Amino acid sequence: MRRFEGKVALVTAAAQGIGQAVVRRVAAEGGAVVVTDLREDAAAALAEEVGAELALGVKVDVTSRGDVDAAVAAAVGRFGRLDLLVNNAGGCIVTSVPEDTSAEDWHRQLDFTLVGAARCIQAAIPHLVKTRGNVVTISSVNGIAAFGNVEYAAAKAGQIAMSQNYAARYGPLGVRFNVVAPAPSGHRIGTPSRTRWRGSNRCTHSAASASQRTSPQRSRSSAPTTPRGSPDTPCP
Ligand SMILES: NC(=O)c1ccc[n+]([C@@H]2O[C@H](COP(=O)([O-])OP(=O)(O)OC[C@H]3O[C@@H](n4cnc5c(N)ncnc54)[C@H](O)[C@@H]3O)[C@@H](O)[C@H]2O)c1
Repeated sequence: MRRFEGKVALVTAAAQGIGQAVVRRVAAEGGAVVVTDLREDAAAALAEEVGAELALGVKVDVTSRGDVDAAVAAAVGRFGRLDLLVNNAGGCIVTSVPEDTSAEDWHRQLDFTLVGAARCIQAAIPHLVKTRGNVVTISSVNGIAAFGNVEYAAAKAGQIAMSQNYAARYGPLGVRFNVVAPAPSGHRIGTPSRTRWRGSNRCTHSAASASQRTSPQRSRSSAPTTPRGSPDTPCP
């Protein structure tokens, strides 16, 4: 089956993991795909592997509206249209105990994961209206159920609410908005990247035990002063 024949997709944070798997699937089913990622070399390498006829690598930091606008323009310039935006960029980048999280860290988390997706929708929507296209946003089970990381969960729940409301606005014009909410993957799809959780980007389950999660007061009084969690229990 070649479900994407004649279609053009733009995928964010596509150099590895879920985004990379989406790129491969779209191309395997005949679609053209703009591979975007903060890491320019990695995006270009994946595009080259997929093939210049079907793929274009573009450096995009989703926290930059200029980058996002340029990537959408590159997609339309190279392939003539845009049918699908996959908002894959996002992640758990705040490691503090939630009661102590600074406003700056809140802004960083929301800017990357929630506003980043909003920027991409804003840039893509005029083209998606023309093609009666689609937006797929990769949220998380953390946006639906309480697993402990407050800031990441809020950003992921925000993606769901944002998509519902965009669907209400643009559904009548033929643009569909869907959200995927994966559970943590025990292993990474595509290029192995579990080491990410061991670096500065490591995410912690700020409320380590169930009793702490259900009791904010107890959580506050017994909150450790260093980030908790382990590389084996990443926030999805
Ligand atoms: N992996 C999981 O278990 C899991 C589970 C649920 C939801 N999710 C969600 O799925 C999405 C993809 O997760 P993943 O684990 O496959 O990704 P990943 O962590 O493996 O890959 C992250 C990619 O994002 C890029 N990136 C980092 N900052 C960026 C920025 N500012 N702009 C653009 N690109 C940037 C990196 O270069 C990297 O290629 C995320 O939104 C994540 O929250 C993942």
